[in-house]
Amino acid sequence: MKVILDLDTGIDDALALALALGRPDCELVGVTCVYGNIDVDGAVRNTLGLLALLGHEEVPVHRGCAGPTSGAAYERKRGSVVFHGANGIGGAKLPVSDASVARTHAAEFLVESARRWGSDLMIVPTGPLTNIARAIELDEGAMSAIGGIVLMGGALAVPGNVSPFAEANISYDPEAANVVFTRGARVTMVGLDVTLRTTLSQSDVDSWRKLGERGVAYAEILGHHLNATKMVSPGAKGCALHDPLALAVALDPTYVLSVPLCVFVRTDEGQRGRTVLDQRALEESSEREVRVALDVDSARFTKDFMGALNVALTA
Ligand code: BDR
Ligand code: CA
Repeated sequence: MKVILDLDTGIDDALALALALGRPDCELVGVTCVYGNIDVDGAVRNTLGLLALLGHEEVPVHRGCAGPTSGAAYERKRGSVVFHGANGIGGAKLPVSDASVARTHAAEFLVESARRWGSDLMIVPTGPLTNIARAIELDEGAMSAIGGIVLMGGALAVPGNVSPFAEANISYDPEAANVVFTRGARVTMVGLDVTLRTTLSQSDVDSWRKLGERGVAYAEILGHHLNATKMVSPGAKGCALHDPLALAVALDPTYVLSVPLCVFVRTDEGQRGRTVLDQRALEESSEREVRVALDVDSARFTKDFMGALNVALTA
């Protein structure tokens, strides 16, 4: 399966990147970057550094949008600082990359890839949906012909993580999310409903240290994330595998139970960023259906995730 990861390269995005490189059924044809956990230049820098660490500098990295569709300036959320650290990857110092950022804008690369690979291509956005919405605006036909979009974002039947209602990725750009939910084809939402049921423990992370330089670096990066999680939720057994789960579902949809629903995002001040069911669309038998993941086989997913990370992190 050909995959493009669209990352706001923070700590769980870094896990999704390693998962992509460790799975034999995933051909990572490019990474597009967006603001979110860190500004877009930070996301590019982190992605280039991680690819250098993981020995995959051949993967092209494209810089994308620097702020939301509304034109408002990017304002880093407090949670992004707490969970991902000042540089977005827990303060880790990564190798300097010999590769440079690709010349094409992320949205153009997404469209070119959609035209080139059609139904063989899956796009996995794990940050705000600004690049994806921009690509749909550029060429909706080509973007509708791809294999699918499996996104990490939203919270349908559980509380949000940046407000009582809203999940971080959707909350950064609700307008873009509405473009994707209402005009994207074969969209699957992997939101907090399922990602919060996955856990990466301290002992899982410690097991990477024996793998060498890459494993030690990832253990350090995850150390920051685990400490932040313990500070915010003292009873937590580990941290959630938000972004890797979205990629895993793109490769194998049977990790989750998903149902087709009409979803849209509230843009009014009171509940801005909340993913809700569009009752009117249902009544009108609209074809605007998004598959929403509501349950997850977390034991199988975590086992497969750890197996792939062992491959990616072994130098
Ligand atoms: C999502 O927000 C970001 O902090 C994470 O990388 C993940 O994509 C979780 O709400
Ligand atoms: Ca992310």
